[in-house]
Amino acid sequence: MEITNVMEYQEIARQKLPKMVYDYYASGAEDQWTLRENRNAFSRILFRPRILIDVSKIDISTTVLGFNISMPIMVAPTAMQKMAHPEGEYATARAASAAGTIMTLSSWSTSSVEEVASTGPGIRFFQLYVYKDRNVVAQLVKRAERAGFKAIALTVDTPRLGRREADIKNRFALPPYLTLKNFEGLDLGKMHKTNDSGLASYAAGQVDRTLSWKDVKWLQTITDLPILVKGVITAEDTRLAVEAGVAGIIVSNHGARQLDYVPATIMALEEVVKAAQGRIPVFLDGGVRRGTDVFKALALGASGIFIGRPVLFSLAAEGEAGVRKVLQMLRDEFELTMALSGCRSLKEITRDHVVTEWDRPRIAPRL
Ligand code: FNR
Repeated sequence: MEITNVMEYQEIARQKLPKMVYDYYASGAEDQWTLRENRNAFSRILFRPRILIDVSKIDISTTVLGFNISMPIMVAPTAMQKMAHPEGEYATARAASAAGTIMTLSSWSTSSVEEVASTGPGIRFFQLYVYKDRNVVAQLVKRAERAGFKAIALTVDTPRLGRREADIKNRFALPPYLTLKNFEGLDLGKMHKTNDSGLASYAAGQVDRTLSWKDVKWLQTITDLPILVKGVITAEDTRLAVEAGVAGIIVSNHGARQLDYVPATIMALEEVVKAAQGRIPVFLDGGVRRGTDVFKALALGASGIFIGRPVLFSLAAEGEAGVRKVLQMLRDEFELTMALSGCRSLKEITRDHVVTEWDRPRIAPRL
């Protein structure tokens, strides 16, 4: 039967993938309250569509950090994509490029920055975990720069890995035929001979728990690439991010895989947007599965969104064609939402096009 929405790929992936892999992709931290809430919260935001507006032409293109892309829907970094499909990150890179949008490559990818760059042209960001060994970080960033990556997405919500109980039960490990390719060519200091899973646990174990705003400053000294901080969900940290001179913020709770019982990202978005005061762009990821979700995020002030699991599940189901289809379905749904809301371009999407539970009851829009 034809796939008609993004969510359907999850069940196909569940049937196709080994349980250990599916659980790693699908699960969230502890009680998985935030995992459910990332989806549920979207369903509590409703539309206030405008009618009798000529919507015969709709433009959903936009600019992110100065780069023109075809739609405000981008690919989030997710680790170890070759567990989903042999083509892994190559397939994702090609699909994102074909869709005219940005792919963010995980530090923990099973294809290297150079390999992903070799798939052809495309605007790509590199997601960075900061390791205790700053030499490793500096080498990685340089390689990403040389491979033509256009920005660094610095993940700031992972001083330690969240507790994902399915992974504990399954004793999750990277399958032995795969490696974390970005670490292969690196001078790993003390670590000499190792097997592949040694490399994976090295990568996880080496994340620096002391990471702080001064390290953001340090990162700015070793690269000219714009830096996005990924994982901010409060006004306080937004103000610090603006002060630190970062290029943008990604409101993210890491797909609910880190601290459980943080709010859904769509609930935290407006607080961050207000604190950013338009000085830097704010993006969102977490639970986006419909074009209506994209519209809601933009109405609440996001400049664009990223999708994580839909890429993994469609990759598992159909490889590159699956990822292309996911991006196409979201594009079509988002464009339809715009038409039915009376918006012809992204700048016509306003706060008055949605109503949230934290809005005061009103009978007329604000003047
Ligand atoms: C992630 N995410 C993630 N983030 C990051 O900064 N570096 C990484 O390596 C990974 N790896 C990763 C693996 C898997 C299996 C998942 C599901 C997620 C988080 C990711 O970038 C993003 O924040 C969420 O996936 C967004 O939520 P949705 O779209 O999956 O609901």
